[in-house]
Amino acid sequence: EVWNPNGKYRVVSTKPMPGTRWINLLVDQDCRVEICTQKKTILSVEDIIALIGDKCDGVIGQLTEDWGETLFSALSRAGGKAFSNMAVGYNNVDVNAANKYGVAVGNTPGVLTETTAELAASLSLSAARRIVEADEFMRAGLYDGWLPHLFVGNLLKGQTVGVIGAGRIGSAYARMMVEGFKMNLIYFDLYQSTRLEKFVTGTLPYGEFLKANGEQPVTWKRASSMDEVLREADLISLHPILDKTTYHLVNKERLAMMKKEAILINCSRGPVVDEVALVEHLKHNPKFRVGLDVFEDEPYMKPGLAEMKNAIVVPHIASASKWTREGMASLAALNVLGKIKGYPVWGDPNR
Ligand code: DGY
Repeated sequence: EVWNPNGKYRVVSTKPMPGTRWINLLVDQDCRVEICTQKKTILSVEDIIALIGDKCDGVIGQLTEDWGETLFSALSRAGGKAFSNMAVGYNNVDVNAANKYGVAVGNTPGVLTETTAELAASLSLSAARRIVEADEFMRAGLYDGWLPHLFVGNLLKGQTVGVIGAGRIGSAYARMMVEGFKMNLIYFDLYQSTRLEKFVTGTLPYGEFLKANGEQPVTWKRASSMDEVLREADLISLHPILDKTTYHLVNKERLAMMKKEAILINCSRGPVVDEVALVEHLKHNPKFRVGLDVFEDEPYMKPGLAEMKNAIVVPHIASASKWTREGMASLAALNVLGKIKGYPVWGDPNR
């Protein structure tokens, strides 16, 4: 699909993206926009080289693509200056290779913070109250009357939520769970982010409010290690970036540290959790529950996971709200446009 065929700058999007705002932003600035409409969900490096062609000023790509040495050298040969991932995570992008070939890299932080945190919260509630199991039970025609034991789950109020990775999304999630469900908070950030610290200070009046209304005030603390969070929390949500230090951060040993009835949520990246170890843990601990938006080898799940009743699995949809996806597309377009036209690149992981 081609927009503004006579535009001076050629910008390629490897996928159709939501809305038309992002297209208009580029077209208004003299870009010819080419959108790949191939049916295949995941494009190979060869597919993308063909899209880049001989002349290409910038590319908007997706997290399913492998942006390394080969693609950045092809883009640079075609005169390209800019690449933006339509994602905040950029573990699929070799930023050093991009720098080597003089290609600026952008990502899309900010616009997906609340949407992603809302999905983590949705999975938390669904796991705590066994919503998916109960839904399947109803549809199977098994409900034959109210029973005191039917689908008894966990009350979140007064329990402890543990947040690992206290950046933008982790902080937004923490706020939802503390303020929305009156949970106590324990958190840990591998990179010592102080974002959640600010939230904690900003929320002190909330504790006072609870006290004034005769309620148990919530507590919060920064843990001195990740293991402390795993041992103490009833519900744990993972929000780190994926890099060498966070690969298999949650492994067999760490799963064993968690409470037998804990809930684990992952809306970050699949390889942060050792999924084979997780399946084993789920098998041996039927009261341990997980809510997963991401998987180690997407689009696949490790054998056995799909059969586990104590797992809720959704297909990497944490940022999938209309507002956010249109925002991500626009920000990705602005990143590329900014570099082509010499404006600052907005979402720039190098900053
Ligand atoms: C991201 O942005 O990194 C998410 O995984 C997809 O929105």
